[in-house]
Amino acid sequence: MERIVLAYSGGLDTSVAIPWLAERYGAEIIAVTLDLGQGKELEEVRDRALATGAVRAHVLDVREEFARDYILRALKADAIYEDRYPMATALGRPLIAQKLVEIADIEQATAIAHGSTGKGNDQVRLDVTARALNPKIRVIVPARDWGMTRPQEIEYARARGVPVPATIESPYSTDSNLWGRSIECGVLEDPWTEPPEDIYTLTRSPADCPDEPAYVEISFERGVPIAINGVAMPLVDLIASLGTIAGAHGVGRVDMVENRLVGIKSREIYEAPAAVVLHAAHKELQKLVTTKDMDRLCRDMSLKYADIVYNGLWFTPTREAIDAFTDKVQERVTGVIRMKLFKGDSHIVGRKSPFALYEHALATYDAGDLFDHTAAVGFIKIWGLPVEIAAQKAPKAAPRQSPAVSVGGVKA
Ligand code: ARG
Repeated sequence: MERIVLAYSGGLDTSVAIPWLAERYGAEIIAVTLDLGQGKELEEVRDRALATGAVRAHVLDVREEFARDYILRALKADAIYEDRYPMATALGRPLIAQKLVEIADIEQATAIAHGSTGKGNDQVRLDVTARALNPKIRVIVPARDWGMTRPQEIEYARARGVPVPATIESPYSTDSNLWGRSIECGVLEDPWTEPPEDIYTLTRSPADCPDEPAYVEISFERGVPIAINGVAMPLVDLIASLGTIAGAHGVGRVDMVENRLVGIKSREIYEAPAAVVLHAAHKELQKLVTTKDMDRLCRDMSLKYADIVYNGLWFTPTREAIDAFTDKVQERVTGVIRMKLFKGDSHIVGRKSPFALYEHALATYDAGDLFDHTAAVGFIKIWGLPVEIAAQKAPKAAPRQSPAVSVGGVKA
């Protein structure tokens, strides 16, 4: 009998997918649920998979791997999609596909399946990753193929005794993990409509935030965040506790219209308290320890890296090459960033590093200034030379019309 390994979340789509795949392909369904830090009780999800007809259901805690091999690389590379989105979902997808392929191999399954729809980015990320890791594997996307509406799905589920999750009452589509949460659909599809307060679960409304700001000091060693306020923590714990602090101060909400890989623009709401704070801190520290030309180069790489992650190209030589570049830069990214969190905003208020290129004696306007002011004269002369020559050799333009604007009754 054919076996299909299904990425199972416990929601309506993947629950309906179990009998649908079994009937359509005459296959045994093996459910796989990953703990990416979404904060859900996964033992219940496993029981639901079995109750719905899966022959086996695996639950894997991959939080550490997710943090170390995916989140951390994106953080070091300062990879943020279109200036706003820290890519929690986009970073999780290649890991999910990787685990599906691994388990398919162990279970001797010929196909994997997942609950993506036909118009999102996730189908691309999962399919492309699976093919990178096992070109022979077949990828089935039930919700793209079955053509059922939501009510038809519920009908289909009821007819087969599939327990319909209570959460389907929500008009929103959400995805969440350790690095953040995304919310789509319902009233959010109108980009003019302000998001209702009740969509948020990780961040407090700025209106309800404490009246006293919180200060957090984030220590980095070679680009890796290792401690908060002097307390060393493993990465998963550090992200979780920073998320709690920042979320309590309303930090990390993003409301944007983004360019999807499949050609459309979509309105997206994110909350990513830890990601927003850590990205700001890492960027600041890296800037402190890198030269101007390196800083510019890193920015170019960040844009590239974000596109690679967003577009499902994780398992590629390009991504690996940028990682190697990034790790070279990280050799100096050691130090501490001090941030102030207050009513929805986060600000950098202090930075220090043993590798800081900031030299007080060169920067100061006070006593002790070591900057050679006289050298500025010759520098400016040479720097301005091409400007001066180009201006001298400028083609003669038609005589300029004086603007017919009058100021206070006087012709200007
Ligand atoms: N637009 C974001 C992205 O492409 C979030 C997608 C959320 N996915 C989901 N299945 N709800 O990464």
